[in-house]
Amino acid sequence: MQYQANTLEHQWMPFTANRDFKEDPRLLVRGEGVYYWNHKGGRVIDGSSGLFCCAAGHGRREIADAVAKQLMEIDYCPPFQTGCPPAFELARRIAALTPDDINHVFFVNSGSEAVDTAMKIALAYHWARGEGQRQRFVSRERAYHGVGFGGVSLSGLLKNREAFGLGLSGVVHMRHTWLEENRFTRGQPEHGAHLAEDLQRMVDNYGGTTIAACFVEPIAGSTGILVPPKGYLERLREICDANGILLVFDEVICGFGRLGANFAAQAFGVTPDIMTMAKALTNGAQPMGAVAVRDDIYDTVTGASPEGAIELFHGYTYSGHPAACAAGLAALDIYEREGLFQRAAGMSEYYLDAVYGLQDLDAIKDVRGYGMAAGIDINVGGAPGSLGGEVQKRLYHAGLHIKFTGDTGIIAPPLIASQGEIGEIVGILRDVLGKL
Ligand SMILES: Cc1ncc(COP(=O)(O)O)c(C=O)c1O
Repeated sequence: MQYQANTLEHQWMPFTANRDFKEDPRLLVRGEGVYYWNHKGGRVIDGSSGLFCCAAGHGRREIADAVAKQLMEIDYCPPFQTGCPPAFELARRIAALTPDDINHVFFVNSGSEAVDTAMKIALAYHWARGEGQRQRFVSRERAYHGVGFGGVSLSGLLKNREAFGLGLSGVVHMRHTWLEENRFTRGQPEHGAHLAEDLQRMVDNYGGTTIAACFVEPIAGSTGILVPPKGYLERLREICDANGILLVFDEVICGFGRLGANFAAQAFGVTPDIMTMAKALTNGAQPMGAVAVRDDIYDTVTGASPEGAIELFHGYTYSGHPAACAAGLAALDIYEREGLFQRAAGMSEYYLDAVYGLQDLDAIKDVRGYGMAAGIDINVGGAPGSLGGEVQKRLYHAGLHIKFTGDTGIIAPPLIASQGEIGEIVGILRDVLGKL
């Protein structure tokens, strides 16, 4: 299939070196299983599940059929004051996967919207309880919480913030959890639980009664898979409990089996008050996100308004879109039928063995991993951030898609990947990184 470079001009591409891309287009035109095919007919193995979305692999006919059937039944239903059955059913199915008392689900269209919605729910909850003074948020350096102004304010990534003004006031950041002494640790590092005391410092500095919520990615994903040190999430939970602060887990990458459990909450045995999710919720086949909350948060917010009144003045035209819900239900059916979360747990050891096997390469400065997610930091001596983009392109041309953030590659193949396919991913990494 031929594509003219001059037909690419009009799309301003997201998080992309536009001018460079249009010189050297990398168009993916087909996907099946763990593979993509590009516009030149080349096969590209998907080492990052697209962008951590496609847990069940590409080209899942069950999802496509469910979406088509749903669209012919009802293509759109206004989600304000009317509702469509698949949204209620999908909420029920998600509630069955979340921890016990997290049973209420608000639908959105992306991870970014999930984060902004979670921030608003936290504020509305405290307001309904007569604690409207709780308006601060605590986040973390190196955090990625999407690109809405709420999420950017929580963000701890310089490039995602610096051109975009001041963001929301009242957001403070804890330190990130990368420590030199933990380099090449597999699973949860032994050192670093003390970093959770940063939340206590925020409480001491700003007053616990002014803080609405603490947002963390249980594993910081986009920045390169920073696995929480042992005891870290537990300590955040304790400090939140002692101070009436809501703990929010941004599970947009961690959720739906990536860590070998339903969510990170179960993988690490720490239960948040609010969870955000997106990506693998629909296997990436439709845009969708969700916020799941503890029952008493739902009860408090809904109970604070008079009977018959709208309780939360928030929602999107496409909240719980029928096609997205159909995709979500079909994806969850596949995950269950094929036991993909258990498969991830079972494959993790083999997968991490393979990725950690790369650590003898000179270019690799750190490897981190948990479940079916791993991060590798590369450096051959240039300025920080100068290598990742180039390496990502070389990998692509060698037949491997890996998401890079700066000089960090994030390897998270579809959960259906076989040992042979994992071997192929790691083999291409070895070939390309070995030549740096
Ligand atoms: C933890 C986390 N939160 C939020 C988002 C934003 O999701 P989206 O790109 O769907 O808006 C992402 C995306 O990678 C993410 O990793």
